[in-house]
Amino acid sequence: MTNHIHAPEHPESESLRGGGFTLWFTGLSGSGKTTIAHLVGPELDRRGLVVEYLDGDTVRTHLSKELGFSKEDRDTHIERVGWVASRLTRQGGAVIAAAISPYEATRRKARELVEEFGTFVEVYVRASVDECARRDVKGLYEKAFKGEIKEFTGVNDPYEEPTAPELVLDTESVGAEEGAALVVAKLEEMGLVLGKVPA
Ligand code: ADX
Repeated sequence: MTNHIHAPEHPESESLRGGGFTLWFTGLSGSGKTTIAHLVGPELDRRGLVVEYLDGDTVRTHLSKELGFSKEDRDTHIERVGWVASRLTRQGGAVIAAAISPYEATRRKARELVEEFGTFVEVYVRASVDECARRDVKGLYEKAFKGEIKEFTGVNDPYEEPTAPELVLDTESVGAEEGAALVVAKLEEMGLVLGKVPA
């Protein structure tokens, strides 16, 4: 794995707080990214970390309002999320990003931005298209199968599976609570959060 250490962009970067990381959930729509992210967040909060969420859907209503779902637009959107994540990571934050982020090269760009300042933890939230379509929480798969939505990830648009994620959660066999616990255990193992202090 290439892991470039860049010199800080500006001298004031010397005031880095350290310890920051970005937890990056990638996976199909309906795979469980957001659900797991919002179970992990409060747990990190309880352990004293400063948590910020960057959910694809939310970022798209603000910072990426003008963007659609072409490859170019998704790449621009993900680069924005990666950039914001890197700035928060630089301040010692625990960033929880959850976006389909279907392209490996673009996820790698996000990783590189974050790794200038902290740790990037890629979590592949895996569920098959069939399973996501069965769940169809937002009713979008049905529309995509009918051809009413073009460029829908997994149906008529690509999803490139992560080649070297730090963690894979198969949500067809692992429930959301259990998945969140596995994420926190991974962060402990990586030394990014301390184990629970007994009350
Ligand atoms: S990403 O591909 O650019 O990373 P992002 O996670 O921000 O996607 O947004 C995905 C959400 O947008 C989906 O969960 C779904 O609700 C909605 N959506 C609308 N159109 C599409 C589409 N063509 N492909 C995927 N998701 C879509």
